[in-house]
Amino acid sequence: MTLLRVTPEADPTRTLLRTRDDRQIAEIPAPLGACFGNREVGRVDRDASDAALVAAYSAEIEAFDSDGRDRRAETVTVRLDETNQEWVEDVQDSRRTYFNEHTHSEDEIWFFADGGACFYIRAEGKVHILVATDGNLLSLPAGTRHWFDMGLRPDFRAVRLYLTSEGFDGEFTADKIADGFPHVEDVVREDARAV
Ligand SMILES: [Fe+2]
Repeated sequence: MTLLRVTPEADPTRTLLRTRDDRQIAEIPAPLGACFGNREVGRVDRDASDAALVAAYSAEIEAFDSDGRDRRAETVTVRLDETNQEWVEDVQDSRRTYFNEHTHSEDEIWFFADGGACFYIRAEGKVHILVATDGNLLSLPAGTRHWFDMGLRPDFRAVRLYLTSEGFDGEFTADKIADGFPHVEDVVREDARAV
């Protein structure tokens, strides 16, 4: 289930808003220029090929307002494999890297097909913590300050939509704000206690 929690950027322990309501979540981020939404495209088999996964989202991809830019879709598959120590270390390295505030020179767009991840979006003195899951669309305009947590045991499949033919790199802000925020497991645990 999708979860959105909004905190002041200076105090992650305070909750300004907490909701699991998809419609409310879809309406809230408008001031950020970001977009959260739900895009149920029908059941996509867990083991579907990359081509089949992109094909399942073709209408959504086509409908996405790219402002005249080219669209390029790629799949991202992270499957939990705790028997492979090298995989575990690589994934946790990547997790540590992206749990740091960064921006991109291009929009960051995800369609989560199976499983999800947690995004922290900083704007207007607040941090929007979005635990995204199956069916969620997340779109962050270029320049949005954010960080990302795929969790201790990541397992998800998604389509990334790129609106550029160039590389897509993160630019880290060097601001240590993320250090004061909970990881996804704690966000979910805290939410369960609050309900
Ligand atoms: Fe990013």
